Amino acid sequence: MAAAASSSLQFTSSGFNRLAFSGQSLSFDSDSQSFRSLSFSSQLRRLGLSIKVWDSKRKEDSHSLSTVVRAVGESYSMEVDQTLSPRVNSVKPSKTVAITDQATALAQAGVPVIRLAAGEPDFDTPSVIAEAGINAIRQGYTRYTPNAGTTELRSAICHKLKEENGLTYTPDQILVSNGAKQSIVQAVLAVCSPGDEVLIPAPFWVSYPEMARLADATPVILPTQISESFLLDPKLLESKLSEKSRLLILCSPSNPTGSVYPRKLLEEIAAIVARHPRLLVISDEIYEHIIYTPASHTSFASLPGMWERTLTVNGFSKAFAMTGWRLGYLAGPTRFVSACGKIQSQFTSGASSISQKAAVAALGMGYAGGETVANMVKAFRERRDFLVKSFGELDGVKISEPQGAFYLFVDFSSYYGVEVDGFGAINGSEALCRYLLEKAQVALVPGDAFGDDTCIRISYAAALSTLQAAFERIKQALVLLRPPVPV
Ligand SMILES: Cc1ncc(COP(=O)(O)O)c(C=O)c1O
Repeated sequence: MAAAASSSLQFTSSGFNRLAFSGQSLSFDSDSQSFRSLSFSSQLRRLGLSIKVWDSKRKEDSHSLSTVVRAVGESYSMEVDQTLSPRVNSVKPSKTVAITDQATALAQAGVPVIRLAAGEPDFDTPSVIAEAGINAIRQGYTRYTPNAGTTELRSAICHKLKEENGLTYTPDQILVSNGAKQSIVQAVLAVCSPGDEVLIPAPFWVSYPEMARLADATPVILPTQISESFLLDPKLLESKLSEKSRLLILCSPSNPTGSVYPRKLLEEIAAIVARHPRLLVISDEIYEHIIYTPASHTSFASLPGMWERTLTVNGFSKAFAMTGWRLGYLAGPTRFVSACGKIQSQFTSGASSISQKAAVAALGMGYAGGETVANMVKAFRERRDFLVKSFGELDGVKISEPQGAFYLFVDFSSYYGVEVDGFGAINGSEALCRYLLEKAQVALVPGDAFGDDTCIRISYAAALSTLQAAFERIKQALVLLRPPVPV
């Protein structure tokens, strides 16, 4: 006796692809078009069932895969409906996470991979912050906090926004969450209705379009040009606005390009936004402090008429090297912040009490994080300068010098189109990344994950000596893709 269960899985033709969903995990090998492994939930194992037959078929639309799993027990069998919500099926898994995981697995297997894919500072959390966290635990500050965050932290955030950004908020207009990622997804869920459009300049942070899809909204991608420093053309924005437009997501300094929006350009964008009453703006300012003078940061909400329609997102992960502490926040008009708080109250409740104490210490380190953060920014700048100079000297490579964050988004497209023996065609950013991982043992993220296939993202949150070694390896691997010029 056997029972069958079927499911529909999201599939992209990616060698990096790994699919995981409730109770099962399977990884799909796009080369052999087959599953590498399939493990069933402990519930099935407890019932003494094992997998006897499984099969997968790619559907005509080529984006979904239909899987049939037969679970067979000695004395009986059960049918398990593997169907996932269409919402999950519409979301792509994060490529940055997939590549980081792949590079980590290679490193653990002894391959000397240089990992420049992850989006986190290589510095330790400053000790004054860590001590505050440790003290919080020692003093038994380990209980639930209010859903929106402690009054102490929200007041400190209000003070920071006033002093550093010229923004006036009261503590009830601040919502502290488990990372800026949660702040953004809650904001998208809170304001978008099915069918609404979310305008996203590309290259974009990988999660924005997927968050729009999670909210049953439609991402509308606004391409930018490397020759324009990857900055949004206000005319393009204007041409894409309609009554369906609900959200514009701005990110400055930007992940993945490091571009910083000058105040004048933001003013032009604000003038367009002001003409569309339905349109709100999420201003993701998480890299605010990692900025290289003479570039300077302008908070979108500080522009005339924008406070009422802007949801400002910031957090502690990047500038304060606190990625694992999971703490971010949203500031905005009470109506929207309360709506986000309602969602959070049913998702996660308040963020970690310990992290919130640590964050108060972070905000106490002085203007823009004081000397400690300034020293990190100095190191990032030195690394940026090295990479911009080095890659700038390579044949056929285009760069827009980043003004902030810790990423270089390099156009390597002149290396596409080559067939490599034993590897296959380098037909885009993903193939080039796989080639560089294999040949140069450097892990980078393909630009197509950020909506621009001509480029590859290099994270320079690594020691200068590591970046020097990575550059040499990449250079040597790229040379193999170019036939020597005859003399
Ligand atoms: C542009 C951008 N926004 C938000 C986040 C999320 O940060 P957090 O660690 O606070 O969730 C990231 C993290 O990579 C990011 O790059």
